[in-house]
Amino acid sequence: MRREVRLDELDLLPEDVIRRLEEKDILTVEDFVYADPKYLAEVTGMTEKEVESLQDELRDAVAEADEVEFRTLDRVERERDRITTGSSALDEILGGGVGCGELTEFAGPFGSGKTQIAFQLCVNVQLPESEGGLEAKAVFIDTEGTISPQRIKQMAQAAGLDPGEALRNIYVTQVGSVEEQLQAAKRAYELCEREDVGLVAVDSLTAHFRAEFPRLKDVKERQTMLANHVKDLWKIATDHDVAVVFTNQVHVDVEAATKGRGRKYEPVGGTIVAHQATHRIMLRRAKGEVRIARVIDSPYLPQREAPFRITKEGIRDLQTE
Ligand code: GTP
Ligand code: MG
Repeated sequence: MRREVRLDELDLLPEDVIRRLEEKDILTVEDFVYADPKYLAEVTGMTEKEVESLQDELRDAVAEADEVEFRTLDRVERERDRITTGSSALDEILGGGVGCGELTEFAGPFGSGKTQIAFQLCVNVQLPESEGGLEAKAVFIDTEGTISPQRIKQMAQAAGLDPGEALRNIYVTQVGSVEEQLQAAKRAYELCEREDVGLVAVDSLTAHFRAEFPRLKDVKERQTMLANHVKDLWKIATDHDVAVVFTNQVHVDVEAATKGRGRKYEPVGGTIVAHQATHRIMLRRAKGEVRIARVIDSPYLPQREAPFRITKEGIRDLQTE
């Protein structure tokens, strides 16, 4: 049982908009969620898209409030699990690997290793717990067409897994637009309900958003959609105790550059992505195979750096014994 939540109890809409809605007898969250978006757009002065994404958000919030669920103890225990990246130095700054029930962002310029880390995690999640895995499956949302079965087989073999089996344990979908990407996140959620999925990877989070909303005037719409998408990913992580990782491109932070602080890179998507990502890791190239990872934002991980290598076998430490 749930009591109805009035719109004016929430901090979502400005006073005057709430008044206008009240005049039309739209008083509660429920009223708002089930009203026609066109009509709401007229009443509130918002765009239809904005209305729809707010409806989505509220719908999710309502659904969440409705759910009281029991979990079996093994699921509770799994919340504490982490997946190894293949490099103990990188694992160390991540608090022991990539965490289940959390979002981890890997950002960096081209060739910095974002996709390779995502591949490696799709392999490593399949490993037994004694080797840093969860003996679980992976979901890979590919937005750039970069998924490479060949490369993953190579990593799987090096990790001691059967390469064919490893491919069968990775669900892949290639998405060609923002719309498809939003859908993919919803499908991934359902997949996690049916299958023992330990990792969901999105490579890359922002490419389609950037391409489809290139103009400054579209920024608000883009950010709203992106925020909703990240929220869906967040739901996957928390509802299913899955490790969710996404990659992100970077752009030059113009302000830092013009103030003479050099070329400073910023992950795309601004604060919307930053606030919702549990852990934000920035990657950069060093010499040859070497890459440097740095924790730049995290609720509990210190801002530390770790070097790692991208080898034929996959992600590895600088020195492998
Ligand atoms: P963008 O998607 O272009 O932004 O870059 P990214 O950060 O995803 O880079 P990615 O993870 O694709 O890293 C590419 C780098 O990984 C290459 O420059 C190579 O150094 C390395 N790499 C990729 N495949 C292999 C491989 O099969 N063997 C080896 N030794 N290195 C590889
Ligand atoms: Mg890539």
